[in-house]
Amino acid sequence: MKAKDYGLTKQDIIEMSDTYLLDIGYHFPIVVEEGEDVILRDADGKEYLDFYAGIAVNSVGNCNKKVVEAIREQAGQVMHTSLYPYNTPQAMLAKLVCEQTGFDRIFFQNSGSESNEAMIKMARKYGVEHFGPDHYEIVTAKKGFHGRTFGALTATGQPDTAIQKGFFPNLPGFHYAEFNNLESFEAACTDNTAAIMVEPVQAEGGVYPATEEFLKGLRKLCDERGMLLLFDEVQTGWCRCGETMAYMHYGVKPDAITMAKALGGGLPLGAVAMTEECAKALNPGSHGCTFSGNPVCCAAGYAAIGEMLDRNLAANAKEMGAYFMGQLNALPHVKEVRGLGLLVGLELDNVDAVQVKIKAMEAGLLVTTTSDRVIRMVPPLTITREHCDRAAAILREAISKA
Ligand SMILES: Cc1ncc(COP(=O)(O)O)c(C=O)c1O
Repeated sequence: MKAKDYGLTKQDIIEMSDTYLLDIGYHFPIVVEEGEDVILRDADGKEYLDFYAGIAVNSVGNCNKKVVEAIREQAGQVMHTSLYPYNTPQAMLAKLVCEQTGFDRIFFQNSGSESNEAMIKMARKYGVEHFGPDHYEIVTAKKGFHGRTFGALTATGQPDTAIQKGFFPNLPGFHYAEFNNLESFEAACTDNTAAIMVEPVQAEGGVYPATEEFLKGLRKLCDERGMLLLFDEVQTGWCRCGETMAYMHYGVKPDAITMAKALGGGLPLGAVAMTEECAKALNPGSHGCTFSGNPVCCAAGYAAIGEMLDRNLAANAKEMGAYFMGQLNALPHVKEVRGLGLLVGLELDNVDAVQVKIKAMEAGLLVTTTSDRVIRMVPPLTITREHCDRAAAILREAISKA
């Protein structure tokens, strides 16, 4: 659907949206009507270099031809079945994901938050069944982000932000510790801790990669105390950080992971993947979801992962990430450049990151901010050096104007 097909202008669409949608912020003042790899087109024809990829979703590029073809074909065969019958795209994708991630079993969900809910449910039931009725506590990291549903927003260790404020009481049984601080995690664990849950790179919290020492320490702590180690790879997963999953970069295998965003190639698809041992906790009747394994979403995911593997986009993410971060380091007013692969954070010293974002947008580059000092960039993993050069040049100009 395009505005002009309905006799509407770009401004009409913005006004309709502002009138009828909940005002939860976030809007770029553009109406994206076309996407092609690393380029997005506004309804008024202006082109943008896409360095946010629908928040780390369009990893294989906007409207990737193989993904579009898979969606078209599947939509013409069967669109939705529910979980009752088996379906081919779900089976094919489940096998592919398990083989590529090294987990035994998977359950598909619609989003990252929902996948985290499933992982939290699994950990609680595992703890209670193995150790007793009070053994359901989970320790997560301060400044982490795990989503907006109740379990996920409670797991999100940001009590003073709009994510949690006003929605209390939270889900009981969560404790928070300092990210990258093993002693803090040790101290937060009790005799009733069932699991530790972290992101390998805190993305929404400002792009902070975990240290190898920290994740290895968490693994050891969990093994010593019979706790599960859970990684939220909703943003870091599927080649974004230079390996198929970020845990592979660290050489630390968790007991379960969640994924979403890039998994569906642009359609809403999440999942929780786990070991056989963990899977026993989510036994028949204990979990479900009407849209789980939706054939169209799974067909899109199967094509998207195929693209990532065929084109070795993990290697491109590693190479382009290093190249781009090198360029960012040469920009003025940079306090720190941090990240892993193409999950990149640019922290500025005394320049307003939101103003830089706006100036960059005016010059044709789309980026996001995680605070008033940090610009977060998660472009499609298909980007080239030329795209990085252009983005860095626009940012240099934007910083000087902000
Ligand atoms: C690490 C992480 N976990 C969970 C979520 C929530 O995913 P969703 O918005 O699909 O519910 C996000 C979203 O940004 C995320 O970055």
